[in-house]
Amino acid sequence: MEGCGQMTETVVLTRLDGVLEIRLNRPEKKNALTRDMYDAMASAFRQIDADPTLRVGLLTGTGDTFTSGNDIADFQARASSNGESSASTFLPTISKMQKPLVAAVNGAAIGVGTTLLMHCDLIVAARSARFVMPFTSLGLVPEAGSSLLFPRLLGTQRASALLLLGEPLDAPTAHDWGFVNRLVDDGELPHVARDIAQRLAGLPPQAVRETKRLIRHGPAELAARMEMELQLFREHLTSPEAAEAFRAFMEKRKPDFSQFA
Ligand code: COA
Repeated sequence: MEGCGQMTETVVLTRLDGVLEIRLNRPEKKNALTRDMYDAMASAFRQIDADPTLRVGLLTGTGDTFTSGNDIADFQARASSNGESSASTFLPTISKMQKPLVAAVNGAAIGVGTTLLMHCDLIVAARSARFVMPFTSLGLVPEAGSSLLFPRLLGTQRASALLLLGEPLDAPTAHDWGFVNRLVDDGELPHVARDIAQRLAGLPPQAVRETKRLIRHGPAELAARMEMELQLFREHLTSPEAAEAFRAFMEKRKPDFSQFA
């Protein structure tokens, strides 16, 4: 293992031979994602694709949460400025990555924390992990192509429970449903995920890249859906429904949607 390559406050990059580990590191806010964190991740993905000595990315989180999703205070700030989502450059970057990305899900993965996983090639989850996409309860719509990819992967009914109701999916069920490759005891997660990433890093890189490209067929359809979702997401981010949901979260109370038609 080589030493720590680069460090920002909230995203820690560590090079482990041909693997670049990207660790979300804002545990006091459950690794909620700010604009800077999205930018740091996107730049790490570009670095992996550009550097021939890097073969694989490994994404994980510090503490008991993978990520609690988009920072809700940041959502509020964006809604009152331009309505532009902080993830709008991050999502196309992760979805177009050429080299493989392994996710080590160390706890709850909420919102974009789950949808980004659809763009990871192999997912290892700790037994305590869970996946939640509470978009509707925040007055929002799905993003990252999840409205296309989840029904395709899990079937429409299961996807509807996750995306319409925002029902949580526990790690063993996610494993049974084929969303997660490996389910491991919490203590085993870093070791198993690094082992998988190192195995990928040891394979012929061109064959790995081409195989990833072949598996991820239909990029035009995905890009079109992501664009459609983004337009809707922007509109909803500035809606009164979302404003009530964000205010309720910040005020630590239940939201009241009874006033909306
Ligand atoms: N945005 C901003 N702040 C967040 C956050 C988010 N997405 N998720 C957690 N936090 C903050 C909390 O407000 C709290 O801050 P405080 O200490 O200043 O009060 C701190 O992180 C710890 O969170 P807390 O809720 O006390 O921890 P918990 O263990 O009880 O619950 C979660 C953890 C992740 C289940 C819960 O925080 C949660 O549901 N977060 C919101 C997830 C969400 O809706 N994300 C958006 C998806 S689109």
